Amino acid sequence: MGAKPLLRTLLLAMLSQPLSAVAQVAGGVDPVGRWTARPAGGAAKPPMGWSSWNAFRTEIDEEKVLGSAVALVRTGLAKRGYVYVNVDDGWWLRRRAADGRLIVRTQIFPSAMRGGGAETSLRPLTDRLHAMGLKAGLYTDVGHNACSQAYDLSSPNLPVGTAAEREVGLSGHVDQDIRLFFQEWKFDFLKVDACGLADYSADKPYVAAQGYRPSVPIVVRGEPARTDAGRVRASYEEVAEAIRKYASGAYFSICVWGQADVRAWGKDVGNGWRTSEDITADWTSMLQSFDSTATRALYAHPGAWNDPDMLFIGSGDFDQHHLIEARTHFSLWAIVNAPLMIGYDLRQAPQSLLDIWGNADVIAVNQDRAGNQAVPAYRSADLDILVKTMADGRKAVAIFNRTAEPVHADLTAGHLKLAPDRPVTMVNLWDRTKPVTFSGQTRLMLRPHETLLFMAEGQPELAEGLYLSEMTGSINVAADGVRQAELDPTIHRGISAWSGTKSSGETPMYTGWGGAQPDVAPYGTPLTIAGHGYGRGIGILSNSRMEVRNDAGYAHFKAEVGIDDSTRNRSSTVRFSVYGDGRMLAETGPISFGAAAVPISADLGEAKTIELIARSGDGGASTVSVAWSMARMTK
Ligand code: GLA
Repeated sequence: MGAKPLLRTLLLAMLSQPLSAVAQVAGGVDPVGRWTARPAGGAAKPPMGWSSWNAFRTEIDEEKVLGSAVALVRTGLAKRGYVYVNVDDGWWLRRRAADGRLIVRTQIFPSAMRGGGAETSLRPLTDRLHAMGLKAGLYTDVGHNACSQAYDLSSPNLPVGTAAEREVGLSGHVDQDIRLFFQEWKFDFLKVDACGLADYSADKPYVAAQGYRPSVPIVVRGEPARTDAGRVRASYEEVAEAIRKYASGAYFSICVWGQADVRAWGKDVGNGWRTSEDITADWTSMLQSFDSTATRALYAHPGAWNDPDMLFIGSGDFDQHHLIEARTHFSLWAIVNAPLMIGYDLRQAPQSLLDIWGNADVIAVNQDRAGNQAVPAYRSADLDILVKTMADGRKAVAIFNRTAEPVHADLTAGHLKLAPDRPVTMVNLWDRTKPVTFSGQTRLMLRPHETLLFMAEGQPELAEGLYLSEMTGSINVAADGVRQAELDPTIHRGISAWSGTKSSGETPMYTGWGGAQPDVAPYGTPLTIAGHGYGRGIGILSNSRMEVRNDAGYAHFKAEVGIDDSTRNRSSTVRFSVYGDGRMLAETGPISFGAAAVPISADLGEAKTIELIARSGDGGASTVSVAWSMARMTK
């Protein structure tokens, strides 16, 4: 297809959408013949390490940071993979008026002192960390001011000086600061927050009281219509560009709390992106963070990870007196390929907690090289079953009791995409003395809040290959067909730690609904074509393009495609095409709503990148829910 239909699509989209929405259809549905995702670089696996924030908020100092670094090495956690030591908010003193250079608060980072404090450098700190075999991470904000300057006003470690000197965020200084952090100070990881884009409107009492420069927010939490996703993305792209220039292998962590539709574009800009508000040490906050990644498996892959926030193991509902909850938190983060960032004062961690962070079997689930995020096999408000296909074909499975009551769960071979008539053996990754063997199905008892985490083996349903929904780490959703970012109603809404019950209540707050989903239709219903249900496949909207990496050298692609019965638009037809390295391998005719599924198959030859494209028949004007049912690649 030439450029014209695409242009028309874009034009139509531009006429009917606000600017922020247009940015999301620009992905392009014409085949490009290659894997266009950002290179995985230093983020081929989810990052592991320690961060100061959940342990100390802004009350950090060099002794606490280095003490935790020493503890990582001493306890063996560093050997297990926890190598990042990340300094979060609180490290800065001011931006020097003369030349805009950031000055470190040497009172808490004494090794940063140079020439009597007129000049400061975090290089001695990063040198120490690197000498210990660790990596170093730092924190900044994409706007003028940081989060602590709005939310931690009684902190002793807020920037000082004139309003301009207290503008420690990147805005207006991107190149200068990124050069400083990476080229001069040699950091390996940067977390870039977004309070500067969200929290400095003129009506905020602290803006006037502190004399901050007011700015019109372009992020309004939970309100996509008042958020300018396009501008937010552009701000982060500017940072990404500078990081590429000064440190191509560095880890770029986007922190816009699941807002501004980052759950859709984060993968194209950063190595990780927060999918939710800040986690607190409460069960329901953990639920919200977890849910914000659970349905997003197709938006992550090596180099690009959904980030439900740092671990809160060791505190509150996840402390040493709540080891069931702590293990659940860790199991869930492991299986959804979340960054594993310890948020606890490691200088005094009890063995019971060290055993959780240090569980090598659970870490191995998280760090598997295929990078397939677990896919939900069963979801409800009470219990989730999530299955992650490992590089060697084994299945990690988490059965998660969300309730405060004991529950039982029937786990089936089908949940695992394993043959129902052959034995399945499972090792319990928290208690190796409790293996499970079954055929067909098994009943498991779960204690309140418990997650059972197993590594399962059996006869795969597909003898010589994988369903696409078993290889999400090899898929890049280049265009998901979403026109208008929609709020995701499936994410737990607890009582907000910030507004409590004095507000009118919690509404869905994160866009990223109706896009690509493994094994279900775009809005979560079972994949169904003309009344026939399919438990496997990819649900997506029309005017979409998925890139599938064929590193394994699969020879055949097969699927049964059609319009999903859940679609709202029943009038437009959809045409499905399969490309191999840019060459068309197979295409259906236009398929109508209600028509039976159409088989589509292709010999892949030597093709390295397979593209799956679905276009609606009216030049891309309408959006139709479609199903690539049973989509699979085989030898
Ligand atoms: C925001 C981020 C947190 C933390 C604080 C620091 O709230 O989401 O993770 O970095 O800012 O102030």
